[in-house]
Amino acid sequence: MTNYQIKTFEDYQEAYKASVEDPAGFWADIAGTFKWHKKWNTVLEWDFEKPDVKWFVGAKLNITENCLDRHLKTRGNKLALIWESNDPKERFIRYTYRELHEKVCQFANVLKNNGAKKGDRICIYMPMIPELAIAVLACARIGAVHSVVFAGFSAASMADRIQDADCSMVLTSDGLNRGAKQIPVKRVVDEALQTCPSVKKVIVVERLGWAVNMVEGRDVWYHEEVVNAAKECPAEEMDAEDILFILYTSGSTGKPKGVVHTVGGYMVYSQYSFSNVFQPEESDVFWCTADIGWITGHTYLLYGPLLNGTTTLMFEGIPTYPDAGRFWQVVDKFGVNIFYTAPTAIRSLMGAGEDHVLSYSLDSLKVLGSVGEPINEEAWYWYYIHVGKEECPLVDTWWQTETGGIMISSLAGVTPTKPSHAAFPLPGIQPVLLDSDGKEITDNEVEGYLCMKFPWPGMIRTTYGDHERCRLSYFSTYKGYYFTGDGAKRNKDGLYRIIGRVDDVINVSGHRFGTAEIEEAINHNKHVVESAVVGYPHDVKGQGIYAFVICNEPPRNVDHLRAEIVETVAKKIGKIAKPDKIQIVSGLPKTRSGKIMRRILRKVAEGDTSNLGDTATLLDPDIVDEIVKGAL
Ligand code: PRX
Repeated sequence: MTNYQIKTFEDYQEAYKASVEDPAGFWADIAGTFKWHKKWNTVLEWDFEKPDVKWFVGAKLNITENCLDRHLKTRGNKLALIWESNDPKERFIRYTYRELHEKVCQFANVLKNNGAKKGDRICIYMPMIPELAIAVLACARIGAVHSVVFAGFSAASMADRIQDADCSMVLTSDGLNRGAKQIPVKRVVDEALQTCPSVKKVIVVERLGWAVNMVEGRDVWYHEEVVNAAKECPAEEMDAEDILFILYTSGSTGKPKGVVHTVGGYMVYSQYSFSNVFQPEESDVFWCTADIGWITGHTYLLYGPLLNGTTTLMFEGIPTYPDAGRFWQVVDKFGVNIFYTAPTAIRSLMGAGEDHVLSYSLDSLKVLGSVGEPINEEAWYWYYIHVGKEECPLVDTWWQTETGGIMISSLAGVTPTKPSHAAFPLPGIQPVLLDSDGKEITDNEVEGYLCMKFPWPGMIRTTYGDHERCRLSYFSTYKGYYFTGDGAKRNKDGLYRIIGRVDDVINVSGHRFGTAEIEEAINHNKHVVESAVVGYPHDVKGQGIYAFVICNEPPRNVDHLRAEIVETVAKKIGKIAKPDKIQIVSGLPKTRSGKIMRRILRKVAEGDTSNLGDTATLLDPDIVDEIVKGAL
């Protein structure tokens, strides 16, 4: 759809070569297709040691003018956003580019009328309703930094994130629909705000029509505010390196960190990667099933498609409500052409049987995508055969919250695909595999630590409020490289296969959690003295959470205790992080220096206790027998 959409494998090879030989020239050409108030003085300044990365230095712009205003002349009456309810009987909502522009301007004026201004941090804790997309863009319109917190996180998690970013406002809803359930969202916000004095205003969107507690002077209804909001709102001029958003994600240590993305580079990279990986054509309907609370929703439900002038679909519900055919029904209903989802969704639908998918035509589909975790071959083939009818290229897209956009993936129908392989890096992306000494592995068929040796426009700039944490997490393990935390293999043809995390991060249904973060939550339970958490292979979730827990006294009722621990985790983090298995133990395998030997726990969790390796260095080797005997 743009001049920079690659159409053949030869074009890809040429673009890739150009992007490595002259990165500044390569990205400047692409950036030239956007609307800037002022062009850059320098394309790129970088230093991976500090780290300090700046793209399009000195340029001025507003990303929403590129998502919306830029299209008004040629695509004003084209659909920008289609919204489908959780309830198949509720009428869908559609906005053209012109209508979405107006809605965003109005929401932006509501923000301004309530005191928000450029640079303020605004927490958005909202379900998948159109106002969520509109609110995100409204923040960007006025230059406020959005920090979207997935509406499944607990009050405590939200409070941590609000405090970390010192947010002055929260945008939320009365409640949310999720399958057959309705959840009181505003109540969670009220609980979180008890410890967040920085928040001066809460704007509440009505979704369920529930009576909710409204705090005088702090809380206002969106539908009352919008009546007085003008339909035009000039876009705030931003520096290319001003912060566009903060999005929290888990690492191997400590609390989740606020990944910072900036306006100019993120804009260029999200559109470029969207257009090339998915190969959208002008009339296509694109559907990314991710929640906007995650990076996938930010980049490929919202910004990427809108920057590209594509029609994007947003779905409030879940794949299995009212039945396991819901995704396919939505595809047929709107003639979805490009469909992007996570392996965990595919595996859960696979388990429900083929009948659900076979009862829909799915004729409109042209391209399928996968994201969030390695896709196993069985799920790959099921998706390719039953959903794509063996006619749709399936792109396995590898990337991270920190990378802003897709890094390694085939370009649909243009570059080769292979089941379970993310395949080739996008132009501009320079991956390397390092050995444990930090040396680049040049051979193929060897596993190594996946790093990047050159910056790309969509990359993380810092972790909010703590730059040193950014350096330590990503730029200190291997000097001069960005370290992804993933292990990968390159095959003889140069295709990458992602093996998975090599640090203490667990990927549950495509969602990232640090083991330390879950342990800390478990330890809040009054019966718990200490815990150790590891991931283990799970048929649907990819990885499950297995917790080994030491209690202060032998529990009288183990099931009861387990339920209590699960409840503690749900309260501290959210239900999405609750352990699948909890084994009560009297001790943990520790070395003499007090370090937990997770290798042993991982083997027990995997059910592979035949070879536990050397346990002689343990403080108490007998504990291993006890743990093996009690394994779940
Ligand atoms: O381990 C990789 C895995 O998900 C991690 C990033 O998680 P997050 O920041 O939450 O972003 C998820 C969506 C972009 C990575 O370090 N991962 C993501 N995509 C893939 C993947 N693993 C294998 N194959 C993928 N396609």
